[in-house]
Amino acid sequence: MDYKITVLAGDGIGPEVIAQALKLIPVIEQKENVSFSLEDGLIGATAIDQTGNPLPDDTIEKCQASDGVLLGAVGHPKYDLDPTAKVRPEQGLLKIRKSLGLFANIRPVKTFPVLDPISPLKDHLLKGVDFVVFRELTGGIYFGDKGRNADRTEAWDHCNYTAPEIERIARMAFDAAGKRRKKVTLVDKANILETSRLWRETVQHLAPEYPDITLDFMFVDNAAMQIILQPANFDVVLTENMFGDIITDEASVITGSIGMLPSASVGEGAALFEPIHGSAPQIAGKDIANPFATILSLAMMMDHFGLEQSAADIRDIVTFALESGMVTGDIRPNHPKGTSEVGDWVRDSLHQSIGKSSFRPV
Ligand code: IPM
Ligand code: MN
Repeated sequence: MDYKITVLAGDGIGPEVIAQALKLIPVIEQKENVSFSLEDGLIGATAIDQTGNPLPDDTIEKCQASDGVLLGAVGHPKYDLDPTAKVRPEQGLLKIRKSLGLFANIRPVKTFPVLDPISPLKDHLLKGVDFVVFRELTGGIYFGDKGRNADRTEAWDHCNYTAPEIERIARMAFDAAGKRRKKVTLVDKANILETSRLWRETVQHLAPEYPDITLDFMFVDNAAMQIILQPANFDVVLTENMFGDIITDEASVITGSIGMLPSASVGEGAALFEPIHGSAPQIAGKDIANPFATILSLAMMMDHFGLEQSAADIRDIVTFALESGMVTGDIRPNHPKGTSEVGDWVRDSLHQSIGKSSFRPV
């Protein structure tokens, strides 16, 4: 079996964290007796610098022709400081989501007990935290009509959703809950927003098809509190694009480091896998960025390809690395390891797992 992967390293720390995940590719080939064909593509500020376009057509074509896309990070501060910039790196990200029809962004949030001391939450709140957010990714206020009036003193961003857009991601969330703790929480603002009322209506309408799943509803402002107060109570969280953007950043700090969280975006064609952290330009090129979110994103890609043993072994190895102090300075400021040293260690550990039924630290 041959899998085509398009690699979009992107900006800032993107290339260096991607490089660590790619060290695992030849090992997985050997372990699973498969082959991967890798191709690079441009995205973000790097693509603007080279072509003037944050997502050149050539990148879209490569991604469309692949089985999976591995993305590093997108963004550069020179654009953040200029609100009038006509092209922005983030446009590349929105365009790739739309072009590949990636309507569901899946962000798992699971604590690692060894990291509890560096979490901003108290220990007793962290036990059993294991939830996954299904964020709608190609609709809502991100993609609605935007504009200004003639004298540019008024602006609008419309939020639109259709029932089919809601239904397709809701089905994914229900299916995922069926394989987990069987609970879906729809996060919305149905006391105020018409789009949220359509979400509730549509999801309620589907619920009888999933009789073993408990469905509950939570207003987004309350959800923002509950994610901090009782994070262990969530199983599958289903929400629209903008709310999902905000609550997943909030959720990402629970584990103790934003550098730990992977994500998958799936939909009509090739799926895309990326760490949820950004391009972190202030630490780029210093060999200090945490590569685990990208390595865990590669594990999600392997699951997606059906290579579950490699995915599980990579996750076990990351847990073992945390327990062994094989971590970057965001986790252990006094004894940091370099990004590439951590990557080498994960590669060597995965290599040792070849031929074994599961990874066991030696
Ligand atoms: C994310 C990011 C993006 C988003 C930006 C960079 C466009 O914050 O993936 O969550 O808002 O979706
Ligand atoms: Mn975000």
